Formats: sequence, C-alpha cells, structure tokens
Amino acid sequence: MRIVVLVSGTGSNLQAVIDAVAAGTLGVNIVAVGADRPNTGGVERAAAAGIETFVVNFKDFANRGDWDAALLAAVERYEPDYVVSSGFMRIVAPSFINAFPRRYVNTHPALLPSFPGAHGVRDALAYGVKFTGCTVHFADAGVDTGPIITQRAVEVLPEDTEETLHERIKVQERLALIDVLDQLAATVADSPA
Ligand code: GRF
Repeated sequence: MRIVVLVSGTGSNLQAVIDAVAAGTLGVNIVAVGADRPNTGGVERAAAAGIETFVVNFKDFANRGDWDAALLAAVERYEPDYVVSSGFMRIVAPSFINAFPRRYVNTHPALLPSFPGAHGVRDALAYGVKFTGCTVHFADAGVDTGPIITQRAVEVLPEDTEETLHERIKVQERLALIDVLDQLAATVADSPA
C-alpha cells in the first residue's frame, strides 16, 4: 500500500510509522513525505530514512487556491493509495478531499468531535476533562471532521501540562495510526502479505 505522509512539525508520529515499516511490522510503502513549510523535523526524519520528500511552502504562493492546487499536484504525482496527515497543520481544499475520498487519514490529539482545531490538547486541559485521547479519522473538507476510524482514551493527570499530556497522547496516537494503516493495508491488493 502506497502512502504519502504530510507533516508540519517534528514528525515524531511519522517516525513511529517509519520505524514500524523498517521493523517489518507494518506493510506499507511510504513513497513520499511532504510539508507545507521548510525545515520541518518530519521532512528531515524522512530524508534520513531515504524517503523522498517535498515541500509546498504556503508562503511561496500568492493565494490559497494556488497552494491548494500545488499541494494536490505534488501528492498525486506519487499515486498514493492513502494520504496521511500526521501533524499537518493545514486544512486541505475540497478538491483534495475529492481526489482522495475516504483515502485521506488524519490523526488528532483529542477525542473528536470534542476539541477540534490546532489546540486540542490545550483546550481539553483548559476545560478540565478527566479523559481525553486521540482520534484517527478519514478527513473531509471540515476542520478535524469526517468518519472516525478509531480512538484511544488517555487519562488527564492533575499535574499535567499541555506538553506532558500531549506526549502521553502521542504514544497512543502512534499506536492507533499504525493499527489503522495495518488494517487499511490488508484491504489494498498489492500490500505485502
Ligand atoms: C500530533 O499530536 C498531531 O495529532 C497534532 O500535532 C502532533 C504532531 O506531532 N496535529 P509530531 O509532529 O508527529 O511530533
């Protein structure tokens, strides 16, 4: 199963997928890793693993539509079975979703539909929930919306900060994402047995 992974940040969740593939426990082919900005940890990690990378820098485009089109073209070039957003901090255009119907997988560090958006961990902590967690879903054109594939709960501890809570959520997020990719790979004909 061919996947393109989109990142905007450190790429620690991507690294977990790279490591699972390298260990032979995840039968997917990461054909490329792309970012919306230069110098991301995710692209560096991919390059270090010998994976093709690309950057469609949001700041290089005069308007949103041009960036949307460039991102779609860059991803389509790799003919992925699935596109995975792992810490990708942009909402893609409907045209992107239409190009990959139920084939654009996103991970979010909260139990959607609670706490969508760029600060799900901070918002959950601020609200005072006793449990939060992560969600892996098929993204649609909304903000962290679309059919939920799996979720994992994480207890919020009294001494938690946004950072400590987010790190504990990421542990579950990585396991959930690898599980989902493993399940999807079983449905794609050319995946290794
Ligand atoms: C993940 O928790 C992801 O769900 C959120 O940002 C984090 C990315 O972490 N959007 P990393 O870049 O994979 O370390």
